[in-house]
Amino acid sequence: MTLDLTIDELLSTTRSVRLRLDFDTPVQREVLSECLALALQAPTASGAQGWRWVFVDDTETKHALAEIYRANLAGAGRGRDATDQSPRQARMAASGAHLVEHLQDAPLLLIPCLQGRVDHASSAKSATFWASVMPATWSFCLALRSRGLGTCWTTLHLFGGGERAAAEVLDIPYDQYSQVGMFPIAYTLGVDFKPARRLRPADVTHWNRW
Ligand SMILES: Cc1cc2nc3c(=O)[nH]c(=O)nc-3n(C[C@H](O)[C@H](O)[C@H](O)COP(=O)(O)O)c2cc1C
Repeated sequence: MTLDLTIDELLSTTRSVRLRLDFDTPVQREVLSECLALALQAPTASGAQGWRWVFVDDTETKHALAEIYRANLAGAGRGRDATDQSPRQARMAASGAHLVEHLQDAPLLLIPCLQGRVDHASSAKSATFWASVMPATWSFCLALRSRGLGTCWTTLHLFGGGERAAAEVLDIPYDQYSQVGMFPIAYTLGVDFKPARRLRPADVTHWNRW
């Protein structure tokens, strides 16, 4: 079932969902497959399609991945309360804290992967590499939203030894495949999401010269 959203509504209301992930409603594999079929229409450099999509619904494995995420948060010192936060930062911190605590409770965690590694590559190579999986990843997020599901793009688990640890948990060949991030997937509690406050186009646009 798809939501009754215009294309502009879909594009402007696909948010990072943390507080409103429904941990109790199961997600059928068919829905994920539909979303992935749409995502796989995205372009890749030279049409290489070197991507792999690792969905995790096993409880123990989700816990192991969530532990890696939590360890990186603790390591980054971002788990502590900050007293000098703006209300917006405080809201984001509360939302982030909720996700950290409940990551394993999402019906699924997704780790998109791309063949190759660009750990020491030029920006040109990195740009070409990452742009061969991120458009598809975002299409997947949009397709989820169009069907009443939500996710949050996260990369925290990748830092330090986290990507390698997750590769070990999931048997991903670390030397051959890079991980894009970790995406908790669930139906959303309600489907009314709003456009975010962003910079205005005029503030970031250049015509003909920088
Ligand atoms: C590359 C990238 C990495 C991110 N990593 C994390 C993360 O590790 N944990 C998290 O809670 N959110 C993460 N986010 C979500 C952002 O914090 C979020 O997109 C931003 O606050 C804007 O909120 P919105 O998506 O609802 O508009 C990440 C987003 C992007 C694009």
